[in-house]
This record gives sequence, structure tokens and C-alpha cells, in this order.
Amino acid sequence: MVRAAVLPAVGAPLEIAEIDLPAPGPGQVRVRLAAAGVCHSDLSLSDGTMRVPVPAVLGHEGAGTVVSVGEGVTGVAPGDGVVLNWAPSCGSCHACSLGEVWLCANALTGAGDVYARRASDGSDLHPGLNVAAFAEETVVAAGCVLPVPDGIPLTDAALLGCAVLTGYGAVHHSARVRAGETVAVFGVGGVGLAALQAARIAGASQIIAVDISPEKESLAREAGATDYVVASDTTAREIRSLTGKQGVDVAVECVGRAVTIRAAWDSTRRGGRTTVVGIGGKDQQVTFNALEIFHWGRTLSGCVYGNSDPARDLPVLAEHVRAGRLDLGTLVTERIGLDGIAGAFENMVAGKGGRALVVF
Ligand code: APR
Ligand code: ZN
Repeated sequence: MVRAAVLPAVGAPLEIAEIDLPAPGPGQVRVRLAAAGVCHSDLSLSDGTMRVPVPAVLGHEGAGTVVSVGEGVTGVAPGDGVVLNWAPSCGSCHACSLGEVWLCANALTGAGDVYARRASDGSDLHPGLNVAAFAEETVVAAGCVLPVPDGIPLTDAALLGCAVLTGYGAVHHSARVRAGETVAVFGVGGVGLAALQAARIAGASQIIAVDISPEKESLAREAGATDYVVASDTTAREIRSLTGKQGVDVAVECVGRAVTIRAAWDSTRRGGRTTVVGIGGKDQQVTFNALEIFHWGRTLSGCVYGNSDPARDLPVLAEHVRAGRLDLGTLVTERIGLDGIAGAFENMVAGKGGRALVVF
């Protein structure tokens, strides 16, 4: 029996409950969590903006130690430190055959499985985004674990699993920021902070952070922002005036709202790139007129999991960490227990803090 934060139904508060996990079956791994970050996508799953089968144990950004492995698992062994990968790739679908593993058609098929049961009544529990990291232990498919690179503490490694792969990947793989370019990052949460650091690593000449909350300025500057704009209906104009009337080469949207997607587009220079990382609901309609699409010649792209290949990219991120270019510690602004997740959700709604990290 282990403790977990269970989402009983969409829109309901999380419940801390004891759950029973089976021994890992063939191709599965049991992991004892060291830490799990609270991502906005967990909030979006709990309020129905995004959907997975419920009741579920959410949490998709975690790291821990392998407790036991099922038949046929050869990549990891008990005692190994692992980062959880919430989007394992099948290797055989069309996207995987193109090398676009972040778009794997089968990445989330496991979310419908019953992976554990409530200890009190034996009822079914689903594993949120595959990995159910808001629990002391979890059982996942072997494709959901990757070795923690040398020299990275397990609690820091948790952040790599979503915020950093996503924010760094958005800048390096999706927008492909080059040295000397100007970048604006909308949304200074865990993902936006990682994107700011990634823009610094890419050698961006000017990095403008935008957030609705004025309180995030020091966090943003610590992550590499050279300018800070408090979001308003004149955001795009302010960004153009900060960039010699041009607009930025690259705007990265890490909020997931129509208004910020539109502002990111409006802040991008003629011919520049607007990358949308944020995940919004179907009610968030963004409109463009036909003439402006022609006139501005911009590229607007979606971005899934930072267009990252976790197995390829984790060692690269670790090298940035070891060299002091990527600071995982400053992404975390609050350390909590499982019972602190509800408060972390409230802080996200209020636009407070960076990443809250559940430390087990
Ligand atoms: N303009 C600018 N910033 C805004 C606005 C707005 N209108 N509304 C919210 N924000 C800011 C918040 O103040 C907060 O700092 O966006 C930030 C979002 O941060 P988090 O809630 O911590 O979200 P994070 O976990 O970083 O995820 C960002 O990426 O993967 C997706 O689902 C995720 O859509 C979410 C996005
Ligand atoms: Zn996430």
C-alpha cells in the first residue's frame, strides 16, 4: 500500500488515499518516487480542459528509484535512478517511423488501463498521463523510464521529465532559436522558466519575458530574461518598441490561452516564428484575418512535449546542467507533500510562483 493523490472525477478536489499497486508485469517497472513537479497540465486534467480516464492518479513529471522490474525488462535494474517519460513512443507508428517520437500515435494508450486499486474498496484507478507520479510509488511501462544522467540529483531530475524537455525543446527543436536572435516567452511558470533558460543557452541577444503577474519579474530575470513585460492589451506594442519596432524573431507561448497566442503572434517580426507550447481548451478560439497571414509571413507552430525525443535529449540537458548553463534548482519555488498539490493548483490559478515540487 502506498499513498497517492487521486482525482476521483473531473472537477472534484484531489483526495489523498492509500492505493494498492500490483507487482510489475512483463515489460513493467515499479518506481519509488523521489519527487514530482506540479505542472499546469495536471490542473488542466483535473478541471477538464484536457481529458484522461478517471478516477486517476495524476502527476507526469517525476523521478525516482527502480524498486523491481517485470519479466523482459533489461534497460533498468532495481536501485537505478530514473526520470519518468509520460509520452513513451511505440517505435512503429507513422510518426515514430519519421523520427517524430513526440507525436507517437500510441503514447497515451496506457492512460485507459487500470494500473492500481484504491485500498479502501478495490476500485479501479487509471494512471493519468501514463506515469501517475503523484504517489509514493508507481508501476509504469519500461518505455516510461529513462536513466537519470550522472551527476543530477533525483529531486532535480524530476523537472527534466516535463517542464525542461518541453520548454527547452520548444526553443531548440521547435523554434530553433539561433545565437543573436531575439526571443519573447509568454508565461513564466515552470515551462516558461525552462524556455527562458533555453533561450539564454541558445545565445539569444534579447529575451523578453511576459506574464500577467508582476511578481514573476525576478524569477524571469534569474532565468535569463533581459526585459520584463506585464501582460496587458498593449503587450505586442511594448515588445515591438523594445525591439526597434521590429518584433521578436521568435515568440514562445507557454500559457495556453487565445489572448496570449494572439499576442505572441502579434509580437513576432515579419517572417519570424511563433511557437505555441501552452495547451488550451476548445473554447479558446484564436482568429487571424487572411490578409495579415500573407502580410506578416510568419510561421505559427504547435509544439508537443517540446518536439523532444527524451532518450536523445536527456543526456544533452544533463550536460547543460553539469556545465552550469541550466539551473534546475531555480525552477522550483516551493517544496510540498502530496497534500500540498491542491494548494499548488490554487497558486497556478492565481499566477504565483514557478514549479511546486512534491518531495517524497
Ligand atoms: N498573459 C500572460 N501570462 C499569463 C496569462 C496571460 N493572459 N495568464 C496566465 N499567465 C501566466 C501565469 O501567471 C503563469 O505564470 O502563465 C504562467 C503559466 O504558468 P503555470 O501555470 O506554472 O504553467 P506551466 O506548468 O508552466 O505550463 C504552461 O504549458 O504544458 C503546457 O499545459 C501547460 O498550458 C500549460 C503551459
Ligand atoms: Zn507537464
